[in-house]
Amino acid sequence: MRLSDCHNVGHFRELARRRLPGPVFHYIDGAADDEITRARNTTAFDDVDLVPNVLAGVAEVDMSVTVLGRKLAMPLFLSPTALQRLFHWQGERAVGRAASAFGTYFGVSSLSTVALEDIGRTVEGPKMLQLYVHKDEGLNQSLVERARNSGFDCLTLTVDTIVGGNRERCLRTGFTSPPRFTPASVWEYATKPGWALNYLFRERFSLPNLEAHLSEGSRKSMSVADYFTQMLDQTLDWKRAESIRKSWGDKPFCLKGVMSVEDARRAIGIGATAIMVSNHGGRQLDGSRAPFDQIAELADAVGDEIEIICDGGIRRGTHVLKALAAGARACSGGRLYLYALGAAGEEGVRSILAHLKAEIERDMKLMGVTRIDQLDRSRLRYR
Ligand code: LAC
Repeated sequence: MRLSDCHNVGHFRELARRRLPGPVFHYIDGAADDEITRARNTTAFDDVDLVPNVLAGVAEVDMSVTVLGRKLAMPLFLSPTALQRLFHWQGERAVGRAASAFGTYFGVSSLSTVALEDIGRTVEGPKMLQLYVHKDEGLNQSLVERARNSGFDCLTLTVDTIVGGNRERCLRTGFTSPPRFTPASVWEYATKPGWALNYLFRERFSLPNLEAHLSEGSRKSMSVADYFTQMLDQTLDWKRAESIRKSWGDKPFCLKGVMSVEDARRAIGIGATAIMVSNHGGRQLDGSRAPFDQIAELADAVGDEIEIICDGGIRRGTHVLKALAAGARACSGGRLYLYALGAAGEEGVRSILAHLKAEIERDMKLMGVTRIDQLDRSRLRYR
């Protein structure tokens, strides 16, 4: 199986599975408990049908959207995800270049493996820093300052990781950051020599945004779930979120992981520009509702007051169109490009973005729409 065999997210997933050590693949692919929410995030789209109109003159299609202060060339962007140099040695550099080439937002994790300054210098397109609020207040302030000084366009505060989710695949594989090579796991790494040689001989693994403040994750191995539970601040509340918004200033501010109308109203109250409706890819609270299932309810209640982003489960252009028709302003996803990164680095990420962009354009034409604002609830039927 090669890159040219990959035509959709599932194909890239399969190639990543073949190329990555088991613990790394299962870290990306896995989720919490029984992984019911992870699956539902995608199957939710199957409960809604698109109603096309025809003979609409669709030679020219404009799929741009404006979200979080930037005009994006496509209505899908790259959610922040951690540890990218573990998935491919090019890591965030590859993902950032691909996002810029497609004119879309690049989400950068607090736990990125390339420094914010480096990303600020080299990635031209729109960038958001995803903030985890740590117990170490000096670290929180430094993350916000570094993002500001590096020209980031948006600060996205993640609010659904107050403790670590129960990721049983990671418990079984023993996956940690940095990876720990135990007698039980070393075979998994050794049987993927391409990955192992890159890991051992290229740029040393680190979490450069955190490393000056703490050794966990960079020098001291720890599972991501333990990292959340031990290092993040469980006292985080709305008051604190508001003070973070103020310290960031006037640039766009987003809350990632808001699911309820009640919380969306609070987000408006603290001056957030947008909410990413998200359950963290099903990696936190299993049994949580799928983002797509919540979009209509949120759009009806607060769609005029805050931007709504549907994050999670998207595997197809039609999924994007369904979310936008239901009331989202844009969509985002993590695994959809991480599989491609693990499979083939920058070329892989560019390839999946090209496939998804082509799907969105084709599906808009088949729906008889030439602009995103022509998609609304009248084009959907709930089964
Ligand atoms: C995760 C974090 C790091 O593993 O976003 O879900």
